[in-house]
Amino acid sequence: MAQGVYRPRRLREKALLRKMVRETALTAADLVYPLFVVHGRGVRQEIGAMPGQYQRSIDELVKEAKDAAGMGIPAILLFGIPEEKDARGSGAYAEDGIIQQAVRAVKDTVPDLLVVTDVCLCEYTSHGHCGVVEDGVVKNDPTLELIARTAVSHAEAGADMVAPSDMMDGRVGAIREALDEASLVETPIMAYSAKYASCFYGPFREAAQSTPQFGDRRSYQMDPANGLEAMREIALDVDEGADIVMVKPALPYLDIISRAKAEFGLPLAAYSVSGEYAMIRAAGRLGWLDEGRAMMEALVSIKRAGADIVITYFAKDAVRAIERGLESR
Ligand code: PBG
Repeated sequence: MAQGVYRPRRLREKALLRKMVRETALTAADLVYPLFVVHGRGVRQEIGAMPGQYQRSIDELVKEAKDAAGMGIPAILLFGIPEEKDARGSGAYAEDGIIQQAVRAVKDTVPDLLVVTDVCLCEYTSHGHCGVVEDGVVKNDPTLELIARTAVSHAEAGADMVAPSDMMDGRVGAIREALDEASLVETPIMAYSAKYASCFYGPFREAAQSTPQFGDRRSYQMDPANGLEAMREIALDVDEGADIVMVKPALPYLDIISRAKAEFGLPLAAYSVSGEYAMIRAAGRLGWLDEGRAMMEALVSIKRAGADIVITYFAKDAVRAIERGLESR
């Protein structure tokens, strides 16, 4: 080799030097931890396809929230499973609904933890769709009012931020207007802007009991083949008043994360969904992958692609790995 040339390996030999020139750092402060809440007391029911994740009653949820906050995780993202479902998903915007009760309980006991709520109807509707169904069709505009009502009721219960995931057109604007009218001008919106119709939500639908009872979500969630359309979706949400935009899922859409980061100046979240968690857990259990390292490599890749915020069921495991210095091996 010629003298004086750049030899990349010079900076790879020593662990401390590798660490010094590392471009991407994943920290606890980047993470949002999704949790599922059910009615009852003392309930801690493991989710079949998500080992290590549970449906929890409010008392158990509060314990987990305290634990997460103690580890330095700044935020949780709440999903509720109601006792009863109906055609209009009324449990989603009931004043004493499961999420409204859960938010009050967590904010009472762990006030310093940010509570973000998923705003959608699918867990609350008997048909399992994210909007109002008429003649077998998911109707956009009649859904907006219900989504906006849900967001306001979450914020009134004390939610620090609302996160609409329904993918109806115009919902961010409808929510912003409703929040402002309710004098909740300070409540930010994290919009699931580029949310794809993905099979990677499979394990979540078991956890949240939100599988559509007919058809699928392709008339409202995005076609996985589309990238330009994701930029249009994000631009719309920014115009309508989104404070944080999101790409979901994360791993199969790293290119979308990277484009969104380059094109928009807003904070960007990426949701590493249930199926991404399940894949890594399953391969780890089978002994086919080093689970801890696969987890960290995946999460770091999401940040490297451009996400500021990483929503992951691995939040606690990731913090423990970061503390052990696992990301810097
Ligand atoms: C509700 C919602 C879903 C997820 C987040 N919010 C499911 C869906 O759209 O079917 C998926 C999260 C995950 O898979 O971890 N609309």
